[in-house]
Amino acid sequence: MGRLIAVSNRTAADPNSRAGGLAVALWDALVKSSGLWFGWSGAIVDGPSRGVSMFQDEGVDFLLADLSEEERQGFYYSYSNSLLWPVFHYRNDLARFVEDDFRIYSAVNDRFARLVSARAREGDIVWIHDYHFLLLGAALRRAGWSGRTGFFLHIPFPPPELFRTVPQHHEIAEALCACDVIGFQSANDRANFVRYLEEYCDARAEQESGFVKAFGRRVKIDVYPIGIDVESFRASVSSDAAQAAIRRLRRGVGERQHVIGVDRLDYSKGLPERFAAIGRLLDDYPEARGKMTMTQIAPPSRSSVEEYQELRNELDALSGRINGDYGDLDWTPLRYLVRGYQREELAGLYSVSRVGLVTPLRDGMNLVAKEYVAAQDPDDPGVLILSEFAGAAEQLSEALLVNPYDSAGLAAAINAALHMPLDERRARWKRLFETVRQYDIAWWREKFLADLRDGDAAGPRD
Ligand code: G6P
Repeated sequence: MGRLIAVSNRTAADPNSRAGGLAVALWDALVKSSGLWFGWSGAIVDGPSRGVSMFQDEGVDFLLADLSEEERQGFYYSYSNSLLWPVFHYRNDLARFVEDDFRIYSAVNDRFARLVSARAREGDIVWIHDYHFLLLGAALRRAGWSGRTGFFLHIPFPPPELFRTVPQHHEIAEALCACDVIGFQSANDRANFVRYLEEYCDARAEQESGFVKAFGRRVKIDVYPIGIDVESFRASVSSDAAQAAIRRLRRGVGERQHVIGVDRLDYSKGLPERFAAIGRLLDDYPEARGKMTMTQIAPPSRSSVEEYQELRNELDALSGRINGDYGDLDWTPLRYLVRGYQREELAGLYSVSRVGLVTPLRDGMNLVAKEYVAAQDPDDPGVLILSEFAGAAEQLSEALLVNPYDSAGLAAAINAALHMPLDERRARWKRLFETVRQYDIAWWREKFLADLRDGDAAGPRD
């Protein structure tokens, strides 16, 4: 069997970052196949010394390319994160179209394609990740790579009406279809993409097989909801770091019922709406005053993009206002922490939180929802409140599903969660946990890789 070659903007080159996310997902397969992982080095280098660093760890080869300042701006901040990110999260109102950015985005995709194709050997498989590399499939073909190539989109795919606002929508769709397998997080995302192909690219979807004929190729397009490493996450609840975090939390909130939210500080996460719902809860259900505390952990993200700075300002003001209006000498209703915590610490905090609040306005999957479920005590589990607009809602239907824009509805759901009887909490959690355990990270990886290796999925020309 050939090697796995992974490509993603962020890699797990730093061993400390291998505890979560994509690193957990890919690491086993990379180690087993002595694979390669291509990505951004994290360095900004201008001039002739811009290069590629290489090293090996546990038999996995890392090839990390530097970006120039122009590339960081045009490829990463601008085209990827100020155009694709908002449009793919249904926020066309926040999208910025800067003419030159697409040239830079394409050039970075081409440069990565040349790096990969120079090292890929017959029998290897290439697995491309996320919206930074939408053009890489076609760029690889141009660079001479004809082997099996898969693409997985970690974020949502918008309805065609929104996708078409990206000026290069056609070129992007055609480049994706140069891959043999295209994976989405949810059936909704897949349906959006297939509808775009059918309505605007003369594509034809086969009924049962999941294949679509588009741009002269036959491409497997399927749904692969990403999962977590359930056992290791559960085990981390009893780690020293988790227990220390729980003690610190208790010193802050006492025995009050605790509500937790953990999200990158991003406008797709619905944080202002969530904060407003806490205010609404305390208005509509005054008996909750002094009895509950919410902690929102929000590690800062992409902070040189203006929309992220504005969000930060908005949340600073809103949290101050809520605590000013409702707080008391011995009670802070909303604790808002703009910093990150370790995975173990989060596992501990989830385990003692009566409510997990996961209310993005739009999200590819949302693994916090799954981690919250995994961390619960089966005898006394908490309640997951989940946005119906997160990919996870397609799987986790026993959560309290909410519309994050509906402040009164969200406040009512929090109130219901705070009062939910033990037997209902147990019954809901049991079914949620079965799903989280069954569709874990190994299931996701193996399902995608099986389709990618499968000869039947080959894309013969019409
Ligand atoms: C999302 C994306 C990832 C990205 C991460 C952090 O989860 O799907 O591709 O790496 O956000 O964003 P950043 O811009 O810091 O890489």
